[in-house]
Amino acid sequence: MKEKFGSLPNGIEASLFTIQGGGLKAVISDYGATLVSLYVPDRAGNLADVVLGYDTVEGYAQGSVYLGATVGRSANRIAGSQFQLGGKTFRLNANEGDNNLHSGPDYYHNRLWTVEEVDERHIRLGLDSPDGDQGFPGNAHISVTFAIDAQTATLRVLFDGLCDQDTIFNMTNHSYFNLAGHDHPQRAMEQTLMIPAEAFCPADAASIPTGEVRQVAGTPMDFRAPKPIGQDLHVEYEPLKLQGGYDHNFCAGGAVLKDPVSGRTLTLTSNCPGIQFYSGNFLDAMGKGGLHYGKHSAVALEPQFYPDSIHHADWIQPVTRAGEAYHGEICYQFSV
Ligand code: BGC
Repeated sequence: MKEKFGSLPNGIEASLFTIQGGGLKAVISDYGATLVSLYVPDRAGNLADVVLGYDTVEGYAQGSVYLGATVGRSANRIAGSQFQLGGKTFRLNANEGDNNLHSGPDYYHNRLWTVEEVDERHIRLGLDSPDGDQGFPGNAHISVTFAIDAQTATLRVLFDGLCDQDTIFNMTNHSYFNLAGHDHPQRAMEQTLMIPAEAFCPADAASIPTGEVRQVAGTPMDFRAPKPIGQDLHVEYEPLKLQGGYDHNFCAGGAVLKDPVSGRTLTLTSNCPGIQFYSGNFLDAMGKGGLHYGKHSAVALEPQFYPDSIHHADWIQPVTRAGEAYHGEICYQFSV
């Protein structure tokens, strides 16, 4: 189902597309290849919209916290906003101090994507990203597919890229989840999280990984057994102090988030080496239904290559060679 979402002063006319199946209903915009809403049943079959978002396309154009955003070519940070590849230096735009966050400021989530395929179960959105776009090398064609698998109640997000030069591809979806419903901000930190990671990456005060890969055992970063997110959030532990809460790469590509009250459970899997778990430490946005989304009112779980991995040769590299296919995959499976 297609509906108008509105227009922007720059002439962009945005649409919304609804795909559904297996009890799930997802609303996606071609503006930014954005996940706007995701309706999921609880134990009694009651639907709630479990992702944060805005009511209008202007909200997405003006927003600064990446609600539901498709992030690329490079998710998270690149220190010093530059990197070397094939003996050349590539300069990006600094949008957080000297560093580059989420490839900004000319974000993929502020562009109109082309609808390449759509039916009641899936939509594929495409984007041409020319050589030098955001500072990255090579002419790339990128597509993001949102597809519902009704049998398994799963929303899959597939990222495909092809570029005529070696480039960085490190794409993710930046949805913020609150399984009680986006309109129950006070319940977000009561939800339990399990991340099967033995280690995480400490970062400096600018959230750039130091290069250390630290074991989680005996620290508040240990989510190997499910625990309420708020349980250790305020423990005196330097990595939590530096980031104002959880905002770290965990060395595992998945997680399980559960709301004990509604029973809604999200099992997230991906083909990525890491997941950025962000407890909404600086969230501040006027969202859907005029609601204010404040600090810790939802969590972002972003599968990706380790942040700034391009500067850490011993980490899996986020590089795709010229003419090779890049494929990223995130599966959000729901159960009660
Ligand atoms: C980052 C946070 C950042 C947030 C922006 C996350 O991916 O890890 O540091 O504040 O995006 O909303």
